Amino acid sequence: MEIPQEIPLHVVDTCELFGELSPQSLDNLKKWVEVEKFGADEIIMREGDKGNKLFIVAEGSVEVFQKLDFHINRTIRELKIGEHFGELALLSSENIRSASVKALEQPTICLTLSLTNFETLIRSDPDIALKMSHKFCERDHDNLQLLKSDLGNAFKSIIEALGAIAEYKDPETGSHLNRVSAFTRELATTLKGKPGFEFINEHFIDLIELSSPLHDIGKVGVPDHILLKPGKLTTDEWKIMKQHTVFGAQAIKKILKKFSYPEFLEMGHNIALYHQEFWDGKGYPEGLAGDDIPVEARIMAVADVYDALRSKRPYKEPLSHEIVKKVIVQSKGTHFDPRIVDAFVELETKFETIFDDLSKRGSEEE
Ligand SMILES: [Fe+2]
Ligand SMILES: [Fe+2]
Repeated sequence: MEIPQEIPLHVVDTCELFGELSPQSLDNLKKWVEVEKFGADEIIMREGDKGNKLFIVAEGSVEVFQKLDFHINRTIRELKIGEHFGELALLSSENIRSASVKALEQPTICLTLSLTNFETLIRSDPDIALKMSHKFCERDHDNLQLLKSDLGNAFKSIIEALGAIAEYKDPETGSHLNRVSAFTRELATTLKGKPGFEFINEHFIDLIELSSPLHDIGKVGVPDHILLKPGKLTTDEWKIMKQHTVFGAQAIKKILKKFSYPEFLEMGHNIALYHQEFWDGKGYPEGLAGDDIPVEARIMAVADVYDALRSKRPYKEPLSHEIVKKVIVQSKGTHFDPRIVDAFVELETKFETIFDDLSKRGSEEE
């Protein structure tokens, strides 16, 4: 780090943080600031270190980043001329840096304000203190939002990866998973607000779309000679096959325990465990009936059966939309929740279009 000759004090006037300062306070501040110069990629401050100054970018730009687990660096933001960093450590009692910052350009010049002068400045004027606290809260809020969206993306990736694992062993294809996702979204959207489904909101719709590919994840626990058997299963083999619901739920439960945001996988758990239950109680694994079956599993059942019957499988030919519609309507009140069958009938043309479009796209990608 070398000290440049000229101190670019004009940056103080343009720094948003000091916008409320009187001309006299600004002049005082200009007497307090010092200047530091950095080369490209040079670390300006390090996360976890003690910090005793605030920085304002006067030339070039910097990157603020944090270390996540597994030694992965995560960029939080880039800061340009007039923007500031390093203030959070000055405000915390321990003065610990919450992030690292490196210079991006050659040269990057920063003005610095010491902790003592920073405190004098804040004490000098309540308006400044208030404005700064707003600013810092906004920044903290932004950081939190970023973390939340990172977390959301991580959950989504976990669910997608789990669904993809099931595909390796299951003769059903990836486009089956895409189609059932789309069907569950459509059914949930149509049911939203109808009597008995008032709790369905956009969040529920997003979650069911995301979670439905997990319905058969438990098939990874079924031995290949049963799962891939071309002929009819024996009674004992069928018993094991039915266990795929329980295997899937157990696997998801293990992951669920480790997360503090269980709702993400709770729906996947319910779908895996209960998607083979029947409205009249004659399904498996628990023989639940009616509203005792979680609604996401009841929606899944219609979506899954529609797609399975329409698809070609090693042991069966595909059926037309009209025939499948008939089968589903005939199973109203026995296999399926009658209200969900009504929603399906309302949506039937959409089901047909989704099936055709996503099947075409799926076979083009294979
Ligand atoms: Fe299943
Ligand atoms: Fe399926």
